[in-house]
Amino acid sequence: MLVLILKVVVAYLLGSVSGSLLLGRRAGFDIREAGSGNAGGTNALRTRGWRFALGVVLIDVSKGALAVWLALLVPTLESSPGRYVEALACGFAAAIGHVLPLYYGFRGGKGAATVVGTFLVLCPLGLPPVLLLWLGVLGWTGYVGLATVVAALSLAPVVAWIAPGITDLRTYALACTVLLVLTHSGNLWRLCRGTEHRFERARVLAR
Ligand code: G3P
Repeated sequence: MLVLILKVVVAYLLGSVSGSLLLGRRAGFDIREAGSGNAGGTNALRTRGWRFALGVVLIDVSKGALAVWLALLVPTLESSPGRYVEALACGFAAAIGHVLPLYYGFRGGKGAATVVGTFLVLCPLGLPPVLLLWLGVLGWTGYVGLATVVAALSLAPVVAWIAPGITDLRTYALACTVLLVLTHSGNLWRLCRGTEHRFERARVLAR
């Protein structure tokens, strides 16, 4: 149990390293005061252009992957639930760290890129269908938040299809879906009121 707790704490601290807040602080601004106010890749793209956003997404995806990979790599004790379950717990802890970062007043992002990073290690074959769905909804509606929620809802079915025997992974996917739907509740609310930000490809890519 001690090893599990230690791994989860390290994963949370790793997840607390927010790409947009880290790079923003170095450049002298706080992304939470711009655009949608979200500390994530979409708002980085919206407010600072694709180069900045690329750095943000790379950091946020990498820390999710790293948290899971480290948990799988570091040996565990006999009494532990096992390295795989520890890795799932660490993936979730990293996503929580992104949403509620210790280093930034517990005001972080929505966790999508970090969850993607965890699936990169846990179920890489599941990512292409989820990302295709995300791109499809984004292209069709123009709303990143909606595309992310739909992609999040597809996580458990996709995992059940790609890795039918791994029930722990399906539970993990469901937990990530709940987290992402919760963190996007503001986007869903704005969609209902017709005030959600639309992705403007030409404008953001020109920056
Ligand atoms: O994951 C974040 C994205 O889905 C929405 O970001 O800035 O439009 O709230 P934003």
